[in-house]
Amino acid sequence: MSIELFRQDRHACVMFARLGDEGGDAVQSNQFLLVNGSTGAILDPGGNIAYHELYLGMSAFFPPHKLAAILASHADPDIIASLDRWMTATEAPVYISRVWERFAPHFCKPGKTAGRIVGLPDAGERLRLGTGDERFELWALPAHFLHAEGNFQFYDPVSRILFSGDLGASMGVSLNPEQAVTSLAAHIPRMEGFHRRYMVSNKVLRLWAAMVRPLDIQMIAPQHGAPMVGAAVGEFIDWVEQLACGIDLFGAGNYRVPG
Ligand SMILES: [Fe+2]
Ligand SMILES: [Fe+2]
Repeated sequence: MSIELFRQDRHACVMFARLGDEGGDAVQSNQFLLVNGSTGAILDPGGNIAYHELYLGMSAFFPPHKLAAILASHADPDIIASLDRWMTATEAPVYISRVWERFAPHFCKPGKTAGRIVGLPDAGERLRLGTGDERFELWALPAHFLHAEGNFQFYDPVSRILFSGDLGASMGVSLNPEQAVTSLAAHIPRMEGFHRRYMVSNKVLRLWAAMVRPLDIQMIAPQHGAPMVGAAVGEFIDWVEQLACGIDLFGAGNYRVPG
C-alpha cells in the first residue's frame, strides 16, 4: 500500500503508489508524505481517488491538525484536485507557484482557501516548515515548463530525495512503481513518449540539469511511475539534458485545421 523511501530517526519519506487502482481510467500516480517527528508535509496529494488512503496513511504518523504544509508542484487535477477535502480535514497551508495561486481555489468551495495559499515566487525558496524543534527544511526548486508554466520540485535535504513532479514520470504495463530503477537504459521506453510530449523544450531541460547536477541526490521520486536511485539518477539527468521535446518537435504540420 505505502512504501517507505527513507527513514532515519524521526524523519521519514513515504510513497503511496497504488491509490489510482480503483480509478479505472485514471493515470497511475504517486503521492508523498514527509514525516518529521509528529509533524510533516504532503507533496502532490493527488485527486479524489487518492484522498482516502493518503489521509489514513498520514494519520498513522501524526494527527491531521499537525500537518505543516501541503505542497503542490503545479495545479493539474492529478496534483491537487482533492484540495477541497484537505482544506476541510487539516489546517495546513498550500504552497504552490504564484502562477497558480489564484487558480487553485477553483478546486474548492468558495472561501475554503482564504488565507491558506502561499504563492511561491519563480525563484523558489528554502522553505522552513513546522514549528519549534520539529522545524524542517524543504527546498522548492524552480522547474518551470517541466511541464507547467509555474512548476516546482521539492528537495528534502535530510533524505536527499528530489520529488520531481511530472519530470521523470514513467508509465506503461511493464511498470512496477514500487520497484526503484537503478539503471536507466531499460527504463527509457517507459518515459520517452511522455517526456517528448509533456515537457516544453530542451532548453529548459538543459537549464534544469545544470541546476540539479551539483546537488547530492540519492533518489529522484516522480509523481508517476518508479523512483530512480543509484546510477539511474545521473543517467536520467544526462538523458533529459539531450532530449528534444515539446516545441522542439512541433512545426507547421501540428497546426492545421482538421479536415
Ligand atoms: Fe502535470
Ligand atoms: Fe502528473
